[in-house]
Amino acid sequence: MVESGGCSAKISPKQLEEILKRLPLPDDPNILVNVETHDDAGVYRVNDDLALVFTTDFFPPVCSDPYEFGQIAATNSISDIYAMGGDPVIALNIMMFPAAKLPLEVYAEILKGGSDKASEAGVKIIGGHTIDDFPPKYGLAVVGYIHPDRIIANTGASPGDSIVLTKPVGTGIILAGQRLGITDGNDIAEAKKLMKQLNRQGAEVMKKYSIKGATDITGFGLAGHALKMAKASNVSININMRKVSLIGGTYNLVDEGCIPGASFRNLDFVENDSHLGKNLDYNLKMIACDAQTSGGLLISVPCDKTEALVKDLHEAGLQYSTIIGDVSEKKHKFLYLKN
Ligand code: CO
Ligand code: CO
Repeated sequence: MVESGGCSAKISPKQLEEILKRLPLPDDPNILVNVETHDDAGVYRVNDDLALVFTTDFFPPVCSDPYEFGQIAATNSISDIYAMGGDPVIALNIMMFPAAKLPLEVYAEILKGGSDKASEAGVKIIGGHTIDDFPPKYGLAVVGYIHPDRIIANTGASPGDSIVLTKPVGTGIILAGQRLGITDGNDIAEAKKLMKQLNRQGAEVMKKYSIKGATDITGFGLAGHALKMAKASNVSININMRKVSLIGGTYNLVDEGCIPGASFRNLDFVENDSHLGKNLDYNLKMIACDAQTSGGLLISVPCDKTEALVKDLHEAGLQYSTIIGDVSEKKHKFLYLKN
């Protein structure tokens, strides 16, 4: 049931933007982050010292093991709280499950995976909702705490910043290759390990350096999320795709035709506002658009702090963290991808 599992099951970002534009924005001075900037989560001020960060994500299976699916889905849902600099606190389960088609043991295992991952993140699951549906889908709605002055928004990228990415890219391609039976077993194991890795450590390092701008990489791919951050911050983001860490054989799998449909949707979304370098390698272009499930944090760091921040990320166990580009004043396009 993993045909279009994970964050690749999102609807096209282009269609989504058009529809969201038509909806009225609620008007309330306590809304600190709303859908207008397409950020990772909404933020609502409670008082001068406390705001709530609120997000939800759910998707169909990315793997056949229900326990692992639960872990990955929960990690991905909680990630948007970390990407805003928040501390996740409580969550609700969101589940669609075909009770007549699958044994209830599978349902229990998905919830167990989610619950164990939530515990690891210090999140209390205090309820949920299930409807009968096929294929199954699972995720969380998560509430986190944040100080209203310490929101790490996607509007916070400034010219002169470096761009750091904390996880390697390639989960969409690796999983597509797995369905075709051509992905190396070690690469599948590595991709699963990365999808189950909370972005908590990365968020702690961001807070230590008072980072202002960040997002996480999920269904719209590295290019899609970088573009959203560039637009929200009204800057240009320049990415050198050769600097981006890739999971194992990701590059070669593209040669073998492993390009999920979501990559083409994401390419269609970014193309207009992006400059794709003349010599940009085709594989790297498609990798930039690869939908990530539970990907890493994309952090905009003042350049005098970059070296220390990357060192801290490595020491926190995020050994793939690297500088992949920088931020400049808004040029002709919002996103520049080169080799
Ligand atoms: Co996000
Ligand atoms: Co999300």
